[in-house]
Amino acid sequence: MRVLGIETSCDETAVALYDSDHGLLAHEVYSQIALHAEFGGVVPELASRDHIRKTLPMIRAVLDRAKCALTEVDGIAYTAGPGLMGALLVGVAIGRSLAFALDKPAVAVHHMEGHLLAPMLEASPPSFPFVALLVSGGHTQLVRVDGIGRYQLLGESLDDAAGEAFDKTAKMLGLPYPGGPALAKLAEEGSAVRFDFPRPMTDRPGLDFSFSGLKTFALNTLHNEGHDPQTKADIARAFEDAVVETLYIKCRRAMEQTGLKTLIMAGGVSANKRLRARLDELAAHRGYQVRYPRPDFCTDNAAMIAFAGCQRLLAGQQESLDFRARARWSMEELTPVA
Ligand code: KG4
Ligand code: ZN
Repeated sequence: MRVLGIETSCDETAVALYDSDHGLLAHEVYSQIALHAEFGGVVPELASRDHIRKTLPMIRAVLDRAKCALTEVDGIAYTAGPGLMGALLVGVAIGRSLAFALDKPAVAVHHMEGHLLAPMLEASPPSFPFVALLVSGGHTQLVRVDGIGRYQLLGESLDDAAGEAFDKTAKMLGLPYPGGPALAKLAEEGSAVRFDFPRPMTDRPGLDFSFSGLKTFALNTLHNEGHDPQTKADIARAFEDAVVETLYIKCRRAMEQTGLKTLIMAGGVSANKRLRARLDELAAHRGYQVRYPRPDFCTDNAAMIAFAGCQRLLAGQQESLDFRARARWSMEELTPVA
């Protein structure tokens, strides 16, 4: 089955073609970073308008590259939430209408399920059950995964998501949007011992997170220690270490609590090198398997949406003719795939 995937939930327009027999045939991601950079963050209305400009030409480009005619597509998967309402509506409307015009099935994909299944696009995919750490700009969640659509939320952020904390702290340090990769780069020049930031909520039981205090801690340190370049790099390093260590401690706890042996990590922040290295250590010490997507599939992309949609279409699920986008949407509401 050949599935066209469309992702427009935030500030990336992405299109991909996935084949259940031959894997990923082609994919493209267009980032709106330059469009939003001068505003220091995503401007929803600009995002929606740009998705409208980019989506159809990108669908044509991906099909051309895969040498696939539109009529050879067997189904269409689009991100229906969570995300920015106006941005989501572009992909939803185009995806659902295209499927209707082609008389092919359509499926609405949950963006975080896309992230969660992204490691399955890689060479040695994880097998169920496993624990997933989802760390993106909008979400930080630990999820027990027993199959596609069988998700149990173990813990989540009570305030800022990990990526959001990276972005806000980066902005404070004068780094360009999106701050995560820029902050990680600056941290490479920083000292690992000069500042010691707290590891929020690790001293009490449970698997929830809170990252907003770290941002304040970084701001206070900046005020007290001055704004010279080395201090900024040292703060970046201390901040990154604190986030990584907090995620590490909670992952270790989730593995102990569930007794599972496989851990996956996905979402934009899972591209972070120090976080990957730290979870590799956890796996090596405890004999766990750990799986991540390639860095390109950690951040937003449509390969993960086409893949997730394909699994649901293969199981016979599809959308009715009416369509809807959902800015908020819990993964626990999803229908299991048998
Ligand atoms: O999954 P994603 O592309 O979009 C959402 O669904 O939110 O995640 C984007 C987030 C941003 O907050 C970005 O700063 C962060 O992922 N990010 C990183 C890195 N690469 C992306 N954070 C830390 N280190 C990185 N290398
Ligand atoms: Zn995402």
